[in-house]
Amino acid sequence: MVALALDGLGASYGKRTILSDIATGLLRCGTLTAVIGPNAAGKSTLFRRIAGLISGPGTVHLTDARAGADAIRYMPQDTGGNAVLTVYESVLLAAKQGSGWRVSDGELSEIDGILAALKITELSFRGLGELSGGQRQLVAIAQALVRNPDVLLMDEPTSALDLYRQIEVLDFMSRRAAERGMAVLIALHDLNHALRYCDQTIVIADGRMAAGGSTAEVITSDMLRAVYRVEARVETCSQGRRHVIVDRTAA
Ligand SMILES: Nc1ncnc2c1ncn2[C@@H]1O[C@H](COP(=O)(O)OP(=O)(O)OP(=O)(O)O)[C@@H](O)[C@H]1O
Ligand SMILES: [Mg+2]
Repeated sequence: MVALALDGLGASYGKRTILSDIATGLLRCGTLTAVIGPNAAGKSTLFRRIAGLISGPGTVHLTDARAGADAIRYMPQDTGGNAVLTVYESVLLAAKQGSGWRVSDGELSEIDGILAALKITELSFRGLGELSGGQRQLVAIAQALVRNPDVLLMDEPTSALDLYRQIEVLDFMSRRAAERGMAVLIALHDLNHALRYCDQTIVIADGRMAAGGSTAEVITSDMLRAVYRVEARVETCSQGRRHVIVDRTAA
């Protein structure tokens, strides 16, 4: 199974250093890892750096990647798209990116399976330009999944989705990560989603790693005060799940 670890990662835009010294132990594969932190902390920049879209110091250690498969796939936060294509064409194009144009039955059934799991089959032949924001986000998730990467970086994949879709997508992502042994990093602002779905959490604050480890140990009132500047409680609900309850902004 693939193994991923980040070692001393940094990134700059021009002369401005955005990220420094991001280091993790071996990130567990087959489960979801949350990347959390305030706006402008550097989460998307970290994903771009891991994906190799920007360069910088440090190393992304990726071992046991499958031959012939995409090593790392990045689903950006802003999911624009080529508005001329239909949904089905755009997912097929994502599947075939960088390979030949011959399409196998297996590839078509993989696409069908993903569209069905995300409940967007009925959108298949609609143009991308005619979709709602949430529908576009679901198509972007399908495009990211169809390549079956070893490492999947999803930048706020549920930010435009309604409650039903958020839960459905995160349930699906959890199952898929386990089935395929993928390392999945998800940038999230909903910390209750991190508590519910992600075994591990990395906290980015001001371009540095403020905390990292098991989600239950990382998401605490102290962290929320120091990093998010809110007074908050992390309480266990009647069904035994941990939830963040924010009382007020911190003084
Ligand atoms: N292309 C760019 N050129 C210059 N600066 C950038 C660029 N992209 C982002 N930045 C800056 O880098 C910092 C980190 O941005 P980044 O997008 O990584 O934050 P983020 O943690 O993903 O925030 P958000 O939660 O709002 O998505 C910010 O100060 C931002 O203004
Ligand atoms: Mg971002």
